[in-house]
Amino acid sequence: MTATIMSDDHRERVRRAFVAPGEFTTSPLYRALSRTVADEEALLDLAASGRSGQYPTFLFFGAVHHLLLTGPQDPLGAYFPSVVGPDAEALPAEEAGPALVAFCARYEAELRALVADRLVQTNQVQRSLGLRFGLAAMAEEIAATSDRPVHLVEVGASAGLNLRFDRYGYRLGGRSFGDAASPVQLEAELLGDGVLPDLDALPALASVQGVDLSPVDVRAPEDREWLKALVWPENHDQRLLLTAALDVVAGDPPPILRGDAIDVLPGLAASLPPGEPRVVYHSATRMHVPAHRLAAFDAAIAGLGESGPLWWLSVEDAPHPDPRPDPSRGGAALRLRGPDGSSRDLAVVEGHLRWLETLPTR
Ligand SMILES: C[S@@+](CC[C@H](N)C(=O)[O-])C[C@H]1O[C@@H](n2cnc3c(N)ncnc32)[C@H](O)[C@@H]1O
Repeated sequence: MTATIMSDDHRERVRRAFVAPGEFTTSPLYRALSRTVADEEALLDLAASGRSGQYPTFLFFGAVHHLLLTGPQDPLGAYFPSVVGPDAEALPAEEAGPALVAFCARYEAELRALVADRLVQTNQVQRSLGLRFGLAAMAEEIAATSDRPVHLVEVGASAGLNLRFDRYGYRLGGRSFGDAASPVQLEAELLGDGVLPDLDALPALASVQGVDLSPVDVRAPEDREWLKALVWPENHDQRLLLTAALDVVAGDPPPILRGDAIDVLPGLAASLPPGEPRVVYHSATRMHVPAHRLAAFDAAIAGLGESGPLWWLSVEDAPHPDPRPDPSRGGAALRLRGPDGSSRDLAVVEGHLRWLETLPTR
């Protein structure tokens, strides 16, 4: 394999990501294969060749999975539940290592091109629930501030699935919301004793638009395949849901501006009617911004509030301090910052919004 020149520091960071890949909660296969990558210099070298800020584990396995799903048959495929299909049994994950090493040697050029070009764009349509919950929680506050409809901006919109949150049905806490006839039905477990807002009482929308470094074209087969490859091999239901959501959104894709939010948001802010309310949402996006760009990223979002009241909703980091009596479940804060600069956590959610834990209101 071709060796790439990279600093020892960078290689060590990438190795550590594969030694303890806490993110693959529902993928025994990726957990097992991560150990193989951590032990193989050639595979580490490949995994480390993505763009700055990209999670090497997601990117590397996304590239491998993409080739397996779209390329020629390979013995490695027999270990992937997504390749063998939901009705067959894949070979044991623990034994897949040698096949991965052979696969990477065989398809090195293709893998290298994918890792260099593609971004981690896992678009979990289930995260629309975070947006909908947040909008419901802020509805009264927005109505008290302005009688104008809201401009919704998603940063890191990827394929724009979250921006079409109003085209899906939701089930939470035994209650149904949204479009019951939609082919996309999202269900999450409701935890906690806090109040569940009425997810049908939402602010009216004046406009929706997204920003992404590399918008995914929901109508382009190659882009759709990349998103599907980012769904972990065991998660058949997630893949079906993603396909259904891509089809819904392909019927009416939201506008998504291409570029780094730091560069694009000032122009977008200038295009919004002054004084009108705006909501910005980002989920699993800030975590991909390189550390030295974070302050500029935050400032660009805050800039949207210079010409009108801004509600800033996000799902990124763990709550700190964690307000729950039992934080052992982990999760990320569904955080809302208001126009006055105040910040509060509306709920704690599983990273893919499989569960949502409400919090006692202060
Ligand atoms: C992991 S995906 C999450 C997509 C979607 N928000 C979701 O919840 O599923 C992160 C997205 O953020 C985009 N992204 C990362 N950094 C960005 C930046 N500085 N400006 C704009 N988009 C960015 C990536 O291109 C990618 O589509």
